Amino acid sequence: MIDFDKAILRMGSGSLKWDDAASRFGAEVLPMWVADMDFASPEAVQAALAERVSHPVYGYPSGKEAILRIAADWIEKRHGFQPDPDHLLLMNGVVSGISAAVRAFTRIGENVLVLSPAIPPFFSAVQEQERTLLEVPLRKEKNNRYEIDWPKLETLLPEARMLVLCSPHNPTGRVWDYAELYHLGSLASRHGVFVLSDEVHADLAYPGHPHTPFAQLFPDSLLLGSAGKSFNIAGIGGAFALLEDEQHRKCYAKELRRSHLDEMSLFSLTAMKAAWEKGQPWLDRLRDYLHSNASHLGQRLSTELPGIDYVLPEFGYLAWLDLRALGLEDQDIAGHLLKARLGLSPGPYFGSEGHGFVRLNFGTSRAVLDEGIDRLAQAFG
Ligand SMILES: Cc1ncc(COP(=O)(O)O)c(C=O)c1O
Repeated sequence: MIDFDKAILRMGSGSLKWDDAASRFGAEVLPMWVADMDFASPEAVQAALAERVSHPVYGYPSGKEAILRIAADWIEKRHGFQPDPDHLLLMNGVVSGISAAVRAFTRIGENVLVLSPAIPPFFSAVQEQERTLLEVPLRKEKNNRYEIDWPKLETLLPEARMLVLCSPHNPTGRVWDYAELYHLGSLASRHGVFVLSDEVHADLAYPGHPHTPFAQLFPDSLLLGSAGKSFNIAGIGGAFALLEDEQHRKCYAKELRRSHLDEMSLFSLTAMKAAWEKGQPWLDRLRDYLHSNASHLGQRLSTELPGIDYVLPEFGYLAWLDLRALGLEDQDIAGHLLKARLGLSPGPYFGSEGHGFVRLNFGTSRAVLDEGIDRLAQAFG
């Protein structure tokens, strides 16, 4: 049986989140930062990897055709949208796929829109490749939901060549609904803006917040996804791209080939195949566990730390905490957290919209989450 309450000792396993936390934060902290979870991957994934490891030759893998069909079936099974496997491409990771898309679909100097806050690679894929970043802020509206600043988007779209969307959205926790995606896509097509939709967190949408693949509404877009976040195998790498439009697909495939990103490793093929073929029951249980962690965090924050504003996320394991009411500078927030020995992702890491925020990763056992909330209370209570 799956026991998500069971804490697994990760220290010493070569984990970025745990083993590098002390050097990154400057002290031994409880790490609740980078986006991987503390849970064991599904047994089916462990078994497939163990079996493959037991064969001692680790040469180049076969099975690429098969995995495209398995990926297409997974999207159908999870999101009710059946893409043609011939419209999928394999590649080594989502983040490198974003950079490749910026190269493939824009020229140096052109403008690329990003909804902000966003994870840093969204910014660097644009700025470090000599394109110009245009930020559209996400604002917390009166209904206590983060929403796109539509007037700002409409002002910037005529100047833009491409929009990089995170759907669902890390770090604000939004699963964009059908109407929002439809409106966004319609505006983008009206202005001839190419949309990339990073859907790496889509499989973990909570009940009541169905995820709509952007490509289902707008086939001339690029969808990126993987099993990395869903099945906690991000360290293994691998990703897929979906492009329904043939010209776009050819253009992107050429860029992936040119930059040698069009491969999945032996172990990513092995792990993703097992995850997509056998992992759905595990994933549903995980999603429910995460959902109850999200509510538990909300209950404790509202009683113990009412000065921290927390909008319940609609997917996954990331909480975007608004500390602005505490009236602290970002460096003071970091100082308080360090004193309480808690390692969270600082808001400014996600761009200028992140000032006064932190991101907490609750993809961990309830006991570790409670320890984290205790330390948060120590820091700001
Ligand atoms: C929105 C988003 N895209 C991509 C990634 C990373 O994907 P990959 O490891 O495949 O490069 C992350 C990791 O946190 C993420 O949150």
